[in-house]
Amino acid sequence: MHFKDKVIYQAYTKSFNDTDGNGYGDIKGVTEKLPYLKKLGVDMVWLNPFYVSPQNDNGYDIADYKAIDPMYGTMEDVEEMIAVGKEYQIDFMFDLVLNHTSTEHAWFQKALAGDKKYQDYYILREAVAGQEYPTNWDSKFGGPAWQPFGDTGKYYLSLYDPTQADLNWRNPEVRKEAADIVNFWMDKGVKGFRLDVINVIGKDEKLINSTGDIDQEKSLYTDKPIVHEYLRELNHNSFGQDPEIITVGEMSSTSIESSIEYSNPKNDELTMVFNFHHLKVDYPNKEKWTKAPFDFLELKQLINDWQIGLGENGGWNALFWNNHDQPRAISRFGNDTQYREKTATSQAHILHFLQGTPYIYQGEEIGMTDPHFTELEQYRDIESINAYKQLKEKGVPHAEAMAILAQKSRDNSRTPMQWNAKENAGFTEGTPWLQVAHNYPEINVERELAEGEIFPYYQRLIQLRKERKIIREGSYQPMFLEHEQLWAYRRILDDEEIITFANFYGKPLKVDLSSEVADQAWHYLLGNYGEKSFNMTLELEPYEAISFEYKS
Ligand code: GLC
Repeated sequence: MHFKDKVIYQAYTKSFNDTDGNGYGDIKGVTEKLPYLKKLGVDMVWLNPFYVSPQNDNGYDIADYKAIDPMYGTMEDVEEMIAVGKEYQIDFMFDLVLNHTSTEHAWFQKALAGDKKYQDYYILREAVAGQEYPTNWDSKFGGPAWQPFGDTGKYYLSLYDPTQADLNWRNPEVRKEAADIVNFWMDKGVKGFRLDVINVIGKDEKLINSTGDIDQEKSLYTDKPIVHEYLRELNHNSFGQDPEIITVGEMSSTSIESSIEYSNPKNDELTMVFNFHHLKVDYPNKEKWTKAPFDFLELKQLINDWQIGLGENGGWNALFWNNHDQPRAISRFGNDTQYREKTATSQAHILHFLQGTPYIYQGEEIGMTDPHFTELEQYRDIESINAYKQLKEKGVPHAEAMAILAQKSRDNSRTPMQWNAKENAGFTEGTPWLQVAHNYPEINVERELAEGEIFPYYQRLIQLRKERKIIREGSYQPMFLEHEQLWAYRRILDDEEIITFANFYGKPLKVDLSSEVADQAWHYLLGNYGEKSFNMTLELEPYEAISFEYKS
């Protein structure tokens, strides 16, 4: 099957399903739920990192790329999961963090002990005369981007947590290690790779101070032209050798131009890209740690620009509302109480009719919400805890800081998967590492499968993508881009057309379509309020989404 037919499910391993009662999800827990994922209809499961790690950044701080952290199980468990997956025609996408290692990785430890070979695996620099560090860059999790390298007087670059040391991709040995890691997992039968923050691997030999402007600073190490060369080399030396392998690059602050290059098959780089611009529409003045409403027109415009930008230039989008780094879209852009089901199905509808590969984040298919935590002690995420400290330092009162975390924290999506109404939502028999959202007695898989409308809607959306070439390959065109409540677009393939309309808000909507839509024999295709006939005066209920099709 071609990658354009596939729908990918993201299981946040740590919070998916715990079979041994240690409070953390595990590999066996994923294997156990394969029948459930098969029922949903997905083709591939992306698992967040489960390699040996001190877990300072929930496994994105890898200490051994080829070994399983005992809290998640064993290598045999992984092999079994892959084998059982085959029986269900479900492949796996592993998450590789190749921009940095944990400082507990043997390479870093050897480097610290004085081994020159391994010192060249990292980005070590001396402080520049007149300033404290080699450059004035900030780490993405707060604080300086440089940490003292033992007692050598040098500093190592760490763009994320101080225990995540950036690798030196200028060193061919590092690039060989990266290919070797990919090949190791390919040999085990892994068919997909998600490459963490892969567009920041290209650092210059000479690193310079930024002006202090955050975008200018990021441009000093993001999307550097050399990244394309590194990716091509990695492709040729590993995943590119198997045409079935799917790769997705997680692209931090990238551009449409760069992403076309990353994902155009002609370039032998990656299959597709994740970009995050549409998930910054509630960051006023680029500031994440605020409590702010989202900008609907900007959200639509961004999705639109990426649809057109990549779609018309041979690139390929990864489509997603949610992941383990984002609050849940249902709470963020919709109504997670009165219209929870309709919000869930309309968001899914909008996304699954677009061009690209849809990703479903665990719990989305049952309408899981943010947990609405109120106490700092409920949070585990290092970025959120750092943000709280910084907010307090700026004089923000506790209650306001908590409201900001409740809106923006990554832990919002990391709460355990809600399987049933039993204690801890059936996620664990022990104590969950992160508290389960309070609403699990009402929102859980068991109940959803028995009487819910969200899971069946996802099933239908996945099935439709497989049935209709137009959904996979049709071109995209916007409609009513300036409308403040309606999300609408068309897909076109030869003599076929699909038009999609969604009311993004909780008040009913009436629109005269004549300026954008031809009055012809449109047939109902799918809608979250059930079948309706086409009318040039479109009336939509709260969070209603509907598509019609036409064939000449
Ligand atoms: C990516 C991951 C995130 C992690 C960061 C650093 O953005 O998705 O969870 O903290 O990279 O590895």
